Amino acid sequence: MGKVVDFQEVSLRTFQNQTFKGIPLESRRYIGNKFKLSDWIFNLIQQNTQNCKSFLDIFAGTGVMSKKALPYYEKIIINDILHSNYLIYKAFFSSADWNFEKVNDLLQYYNQLNPAELPENYFSEHFGNKFFDYPNAKLIGYIREDLEARKNQLNEKEFAILLATLIYNIDKIANTVGHFDAYIKKKEIPYQKLELRLIEQCTHPNLEIYCQNANDLARSVEADIAYVDPPYNSRQYNRFYHVYENLAEWKKPPLFGIALKPKAENNSVYCTTKAKSAFEDLIKNLKVRYIAVSYNNTYSSKSSSSANKIQLNEIYEILSQKGETKVFEKPYKFFNAGKTEFENHKEFLFISRVY
Ligand SMILES: C[S@@+](CC[C@H](N)C(=O)[O-])C[C@H]1O[C@@H](n2cnc3c(N)ncnc32)[C@H](O)[C@@H]1O
Repeated sequence: MGKVVDFQEVSLRTFQNQTFKGIPLESRRYIGNKFKLSDWIFNLIQQNTQNCKSFLDIFAGTGVMSKKALPYYEKIIINDILHSNYLIYKAFFSSADWNFEKVNDLLQYYNQLNPAELPENYFSEHFGNKFFDYPNAKLIGYIREDLEARKNQLNEKEFAILLATLIYNIDKIANTVGHFDAYIKKKEIPYQKLELRLIEQCTHPNLEIYCQNANDLARSVEADIAYVDPPYNSRQYNRFYHVYENLAEWKKPPLFGIALKPKAENNSVYCTTKAKSAFEDLIKNLKVRYIAVSYNNTYSSKSSSSANKIQLNEIYEILSQKGETKVFEKPYKFFNAGKTEFENHKEFLFISRVY
């Protein structure tokens, strides 16, 4: 059994005479993440709710709002439909035992591998010289295969930490504008040494982690407050982050098209014309005392895929049927992945006290 390692110990651990600090949860490119808005959102939640002991982050994405909530609630429930996010939550948040030396020894082993000596593999065959430079694509595929082979020597937490560490580090060298809907066309992607640096720990003793459709989960869990931050346009997150979904599941599916995506599965209803009725159903079935909903108007008339599937007034009407609802707004400078600045962009937060 590995030794129990707590957050303090891991973040400030001295490793080979150097002070060690893990990669923070928020150090990741993720569309629509609320890191920069998290203080604003969290302060409003705290000012407008009372006696809340449990926090449900039901469309958690990167998990930055759950991280923010850790010190303030006795129980945290974190959920997202993506397999890669589920793995990342286990890696960062779960308080299960794990062995620091064992994980670090493996990372050291991976860091001294020479990509030139590694064989071609599923990952390099598909993504080499596209989403990643070719040598690193070989290295990533090799490491993922090696982790699979070591599954019986690693516990669930160790496996999750190693795979999330791989994902967080390759995020920094991916040849993209921040997601895998497309790669940047280049004759040759310059090689950068991939050095795997361990992720941080943000554990909580009473935490539940789910990978479910939010509407199903709403029916089976209870909390004092739910934070609701669904996608509002037609862009499916499983398509944007298909490379991480592929790594998390490692079923090595056949891939199609220029962006090398697998056949679509676990698509979100929130990115379709049924979004409004899904949202209505969710709000109706949430078993909570307060609901906080994020909303923004990133609609650009040039792109129909960025048009919101639910309108601001519809959110207000649906929430008002469930509870006494307040709306807060904040002008917010927003850039999409292509660096387009949206004008008059506003971020909204609804807070409802359930009747
Ligand atoms: C706007 S992002 C949330 C961002 C998050 N608040 C953050 O700060 O990182 C929406 C998230 O909802 C997830 N999602 C979409 N449809 C879902 C569904 N039906 N059930 C659960 N999660 C879903 C997506 O995978 C995505 O991570």
